[in-house]
Amino acid sequence: MGRYLVTGAAGFIASRVSQMLMDDGHSVVGVDNMNDAYDPRMKEYRLARLVKQEQFDFVKMDIADKDAAFKLIDKGPYDAVINLAARAGVRQSVENPWVYVDTNVTGTLNMLETAIRSGTKKFILASTSSIYGSNPPIPTPETASSDHPLQPYSATKKGAEALCHSYHYLHNLDVTVFRYFTVYGPAARPDMVMFRFAQWISEGREVRVNGDGTQSRGFTYVDDIARGTILGLKPVGYEIINLGGHQVITINDLIAKVEKLVGRKANVVYQDRHPADVMENSANVEKAMSMLGWAPKVSLEEGIPNLVNWYLAERSWVSQILTP
Ligand SMILES: NC(=O)c1ccc[n+]([C@@H]2O[C@H](COP(=O)([O-])OP(=O)(O)OC[C@H]3O[C@@H](n4cnc5c(N)ncnc54)[C@H](O)[C@@H]3O)[C@@H](O)[C@H]2O)c1
Repeated sequence: MGRYLVTGAAGFIASRVSQMLMDDGHSVVGVDNMNDAYDPRMKEYRLARLVKQEQFDFVKMDIADKDAAFKLIDKGPYDAVINLAARAGVRQSVENPWVYVDTNVTGTLNMLETAIRSGTKKFILASTSSIYGSNPPIPTPETASSDHPLQPYSATKKGAEALCHSYHYLHNLDVTVFRYFTVYGPAARPDMVMFRFAQWISEGREVRVNGDGTQSRGFTYVDDIARGTILGLKPVGYEIINLGGHQVITINDLIAKVEKLVGRKANVVYQDRHPADVMENSANVEKAMSMLGWAPKVSLEEGIPNLVNWYLAERSWVSQILTP
């Protein structure tokens, strides 16, 4: 059975990847610094489920700290380093770009060095659809330009992708870079719309929408993302692969769906559109299909109720999670 180093393990996506790896009989060294980019109680909740299992070894540390990172070398070699830790979020990166460079660039560099120095042959990096800039073809293939990132977040991901390529070239490290498109599901990030709408509508709070709500997203269910990420463990050389959902929905239609599930009308307040937001995104996932045999399976009709029902079941404490 395999042994994997997963960074960002208390995070939304990496906690699911870690769980799926353990369900398959593997063990996981999970790393997270439990920062407060969003309410850390969500991270503690996800982590609490993982640490109960004996195949899970948690290390609290900052991947941008080289000395701490190099202590992970002794725990290797790993079957793969799966680097999902990041400062995520497009808008916050405009306010504090430095922490994005620290984690997403320096942190990725430290994890690449950890992989090489521990004799690990496989590396996975989480990148993002926001790398495609303002006017990509829709649905967007991997060949679309990513040369003009619009925010520090996507610029740091571009830097991380480039570092991965150089380590592939120099050390023959096998790398799969995944560009994820907007991910949702139970225990989702409270700084993203799906969680916020579930909370705001359930609790009768104002539902703040940037722009007029006609912007659309190709939402992807977290289990599909985690399954695709694990399929990416196979040797590929160096490849960049989109993982994205098969259904696109506007923000207004999303609100209507959540209203129906919660049984309460939303009090929507439309605000100015944020310049860091794109109007539309959706993935061309033909490459994931041909290289990994992956296609998204979970529909919005199944996935949105899963999130809303999780929210309602955990409401006693999730209603307190900060969603500023
Ligand atoms: N959720 C999405 O829609 C989405 C879309 C595109 C790309 N991504 C990428 O997928 C990855 C996972 O995203 P997520 O949505 O699960 O985010 P998340 O914020 O829930 O998870 C990231 C985890 O990394 C940890 N972390 C951050 N900086 C760290 C550091 N310096 N050292 C150690 N741990 C650190 C955080 O505490 C957090 O638990 C990220 O790389 C993100 O950029 C996510």
